[in-house]
Amino acid sequence: MHRLPPLSRRDLLIAGGALGAASAFLPRPSLAADGVRRFALKPMPATASLVGEAYPDTAVWGYNGSVPGPEIRAVQGETLEIEVENGLDQATTVHWHGIRLPNAMDGVPHVTQEPIAPGGRFTYRFGLPDAGTYWYHPHLGSSEQLGRGLSGALVVEEREPVRVDREMVWLLDDWRLGRDAQIVGGFGDMHDRTHDGRIGNTVTLNGRLTEQVPVRAGERLRLRLVNVANARLFALDFQGHQPQVVALDGHPVTPHAPKDGQIVLGPGMRADIVIDMQGRPGERFEVVDRFYRQMHYRFVDLAYSDEAPLRDNPLAESIRLPSNSVPAPDLASAVTHRVHFGGGMMGQMASARMDGRMVGMREMFQHGLAWTVNGAAVSGHLNDPLFRLKRGQSCRMVLENDTAWFHPIHLHGHAFRVIARNGQKVADDAFLDTVLLAPRETAEIAFLADNPGMWMLHCHVLEHQESGMMGLIEVA
Ligand code: C2O
Ligand code: CU
Repeated sequence: MHRLPPLSRRDLLIAGGALGAASAFLPRPSLAADGVRRFALKPMPATASLVGEAYPDTAVWGYNGSVPGPEIRAVQGETLEIEVENGLDQATTVHWHGIRLPNAMDGVPHVTQEPIAPGGRFTYRFGLPDAGTYWYHPHLGSSEQLGRGLSGALVVEEREPVRVDREMVWLLDDWRLGRDAQIVGGFGDMHDRTHDGRIGNTVTLNGRLTEQVPVRAGERLRLRLVNVANARLFALDFQGHQPQVVALDGHPVTPHAPKDGQIVLGPGMRADIVIDMQGRPGERFEVVDRFYRQMHYRFVDLAYSDEAPLRDNPLAESIRLPSNSVPAPDLASAVTHRVHFGGGMMGQMASARMDGRMVGMREMFQHGLAWTVNGAAVSGHLNDPLFRLKRGQSCRMVLENDTAWFHPIHLHGHAFRVIARNGQKVADDAFLDTVLLAPRETAEIAFLADNPGMWMLHCHVLEHQESGMMGLIEVA
């Protein structure tokens, strides 16, 4: 096994504990007269202090040279225009994860656009129908391009936000670093592909191994959590606090406490939470990640300042976010499609269709493929959709995880409801763009296919995606 020993905080943190990089949000650039917000993004090699000053800076790839990339912030209903210049020595694209946008702006290479060559440019322009927490990342060479640091937050504010005292965006990332604090190569490794992806050994908050996040007693915080890791899942337990989940994957939900007190985020997934800081001045509380059994660790501390509480009792105002008006699917008239995911280690798959013929696992592996969708292992570019939907049709999709692994399955261009898990009805008002499938779990999702184009459906464990766990759905 090539697994690296985890780098502990003791190994990596500078003595004296630097303050976290969990920054408050940046002001958004002013709106141009034409109602368009403009940004420029240049993915490029850079260096970043991921693990603190006791270690050398890490060579990374970052948008505009920073990790994470600049926060893009706008208001629901506005239009974004983002000029991308490729400063890498390999082709790239940018995908705007979760935004219901026109297909040509979706950033999927060879499907919605040609890759942006080194030195090349592409301008993305799209409206923002929904408020919420989204993010952006490359959709080409994803394991390496995200694994080296390319990702950033895209926040769409509500026109009338709920009242909080402070808001923070937390991008959760995971890196595989050597003792010299440099990124270990081996992207596309077959062990990662056939198991649980490229899990790293160093977890960062907004691009930095973070000891603590300062808070104040009595304040109401909104945290926008985004899992931008290649493969690591998180289950955050805010010990001593009662977070309320107010949105998932950007879309508002009825405010509720997380199940078992843990906010579970697979790669690509987001949660907005509101927390009333009920600790006392000077207290510290651990936020613990409990996803992997026997590998619980302290993700960060909430460190209360000595200031007097901001208020004695939590704010009385409602924390329910205004609805995004995502069109609901009509289950009575929905067509049903089944999507079966197979493969990986410890699965039961014996053979698969590859380039039109049946092959065994061994031959699949030799082609770098580890997973199947509806029995086919797809190499190279996607062409044919798994199925076609008429625009305006409602679709019920049965996603069957016939593997021994977790898979966060992401659909582009739409938001869907989860209507059942393992045959049990789910009553839930959430609209998601990514559904986490546990090993052997089947989830039924439903959505209104109202956005024309070729849309990807794929696992957001990037090593799974690029070894076959992906497909297209055509809406026409
Ligand atoms: Cu966040 Cu198809 O990706
Ligand atoms: Cu997967």
